[in-house]
Amino acid sequence: MRSFFHVMGLICFAISSVHATHISVSSPDKRITFTFSDANQEAQYSVEYHGSDLILPSKLGFTFEQAQPLYHHFKVEEISRHSNDDKWKQPWGEQRIIRNHYNELVVKFTQINDANRHFSVRARVFDDGVGFRYEMPDAGDVAITRELTQFHLADSQRATAYWIPGQSQQRYEYLYRETALNEVGLAHTPFTVKYETGTHVAIHEAALVDYAGMSLHFLERGKLEAKLAPRSDGTLVHKSGSFHTPWRTITIGNEAVDLINSYIALNLNEPNKLGEVDWVNPGKYIGIWWGMHIGKFSWGAGEKHGATTERTIRYMNFAAKHGFDGVLVEGWNEGWDGNWIANSEIFSFTKSYPDFDIKKVTEHGKKIGVKLIGHHETSGGITNYEKQMESGFALYQKHGVEQIKTGYVSYGQNLKVVDENGVMRYEFTDSQPAVNHFINNVKTAAKYQLSINTHESVKDTGLRRTYPNWLARESARGQEYNAGWSKPNPAEHIPMLAYTRMLAGPMDFTPGIFNFNYTLGNNSGMDVGTKELRRPISTLSKQLAEYVVLYSPIQMAADLPENYEAKPAAFQFIKDVPTDWEETRALQGEVGDFVVVARKEKKHRSYNGRDWYLGAITNGEARTITVPLDFLEKGMAYEAQIYRDTHQTDWRKNPYAMIIEKKKVTRADTLNVRLAAAGGLAVRFKAL
Ligand code: NOJ
Ligand code: CA
Repeated sequence: MRSFFHVMGLICFAISSVHATHISVSSPDKRITFTFSDANQEAQYSVEYHGSDLILPSKLGFTFEQAQPLYHHFKVEEISRHSNDDKWKQPWGEQRIIRNHYNELVVKFTQINDANRHFSVRARVFDDGVGFRYEMPDAGDVAITRELTQFHLADSQRATAYWIPGQSQQRYEYLYRETALNEVGLAHTPFTVKYETGTHVAIHEAALVDYAGMSLHFLERGKLEAKLAPRSDGTLVHKSGSFHTPWRTITIGNEAVDLINSYIALNLNEPNKLGEVDWVNPGKYIGIWWGMHIGKFSWGAGEKHGATTERTIRYMNFAAKHGFDGVLVEGWNEGWDGNWIANSEIFSFTKSYPDFDIKKVTEHGKKIGVKLIGHHETSGGITNYEKQMESGFALYQKHGVEQIKTGYVSYGQNLKVVDENGVMRYEFTDSQPAVNHFINNVKTAAKYQLSINTHESVKDTGLRRTYPNWLARESARGQEYNAGWSKPNPAEHIPMLAYTRMLAGPMDFTPGIFNFNYTLGNNSGMDVGTKELRRPISTLSKQLAEYVVLYSPIQMAADLPENYEAKPAAFQFIKDVPTDWEETRALQGEVGDFVVVARKEKKHRSYNGRDWYLGAITNGEARTITVPLDFLEKGMAYEAQIYRDTHQTDWRKNPYAMIIEKKKVTRADTLNVRLAAAGGLAVRFKAL
């Protein structure tokens, strides 16, 4: 009997495969084909690139807490097709005009034995990748316990993956790992894969709203499955009525820089919901910040208190003198004394320490044209923050503040949310309740015409298109890790970020450290550890190059004013470089090795919209880059103001050695420059 059923099973399998329906849609340039099928009566999709398999048949579906799963006995049916080719404008960004060009296919997977049970999947295929999302019918209240979406990468034995661990203690603040694809564990997205052929793939998501963030979990050879961050009750996502998921995105290119030059995640987000956003301003800032990280000042009260009225006014004067828009002040409000990471429930968002007078500093700032940049550290106390959020915003608005940096320092599944029954729950940064909090924070801020820069936030998924007041996030290891309280970021960190974290959106990395000889920070309340090498693994030129390579509409000059005053020639580049761009072109590079990016400034305020900038950063290896300047405008001449490493520059022994030279160039010229190990290159092409 057993073998009879076995044989019958094989026959059924053969029949269902033979009768499987395959429905495809290709990219406008036909290089990418996305196919839905019901082979084996499963809901499946696959992707071909240049006529070869890229994503092998991969499952789609769900399981629920108290409902039948949606994962087999499916038949697929075409519902609709649609094509789009238009352009839209970003109010600020790395690229002012974005083309949204795709072919769309919507299919419905219906259960063979129960036509009432179905879901649809909408796929959009662009020339540089695909996005698809589930669209679920109303099934009342449901709790998702598993999203079965798989990504079965072909030729996995010839693929290398670049990734950070998902759902772990330090949120997104990890060093990138380079492993064989088949050695991945649980990884955050953007998750980048490089093939021996040069094909590069990045898996991520777009428009993460009222859902849990997706990590990728390795199943077997080349096969990864979505793993959503759980809620504190152990389920993944609570939904009521019809809903759709975020878009699952697969960006595809022939070389590493194609990933950077893709805008599919922004295209898949909804247009601006805030209307006129002329109150959202990109810009540059300094702050009472690095001083705390290196132990010179403290956040909390006492003789080292950083956020004093007197110091803020001094920093504002420095900002005005050198053309910065704002001064960030951390530690001005009550709650920092003692172990501030553990004391999330005592933060006040309205009461200042006695030595900080918000009225006085903002009135002074107004006179000299410098804004105070607000700060809300929550230490993960979400409910404590939400209770005070509006009064905190109102206070800032009253004093003319335009931007707030927020923070959620707390380990792993440790964001504190009081539920509807008054019970304190502990949630992951990328869980559904936290995702909703971050969006609520940004939407509420918009009511007060405030913009937000979220630290320790869930990853970016392109929501800046919908909420342009969400200027930047951290969500990775930033410069702060070089301050002394941790092992510093290794030399390859920035060439890793460029092809991974930065694919998600702007990062508040906080570049521009000019003095590498500071003492070990010891009052930050963070893990201090041993006194081994604790400083940026960097040359001075690399610190400048970061302003071009790491895109953010708000860039900090992170070091202390006196350290900029000590190196005025290098500081000039930070003063010149814009943070809002007409156009961006990632030109050359390899994941984790090096990256070369050119950007054209946007015509805006004091920028005439004619200059180009270039940034290049290498890993721990010195290398010479050869860059044709054919991105420059035809018929124009430029003065190239070049800030580069010298042959003597050595990040350990001679990091500040830098040549600043000026040359006349046109688009017919080629730049040949040697980057020192852990070095970089920054260029302003000033239109003549
Ligand atoms: C972590 C943030 O990333 C950092 O910039 C900030 O100074 C501290 N939290 C304190 O809020
Ligand atoms: Ca941080």
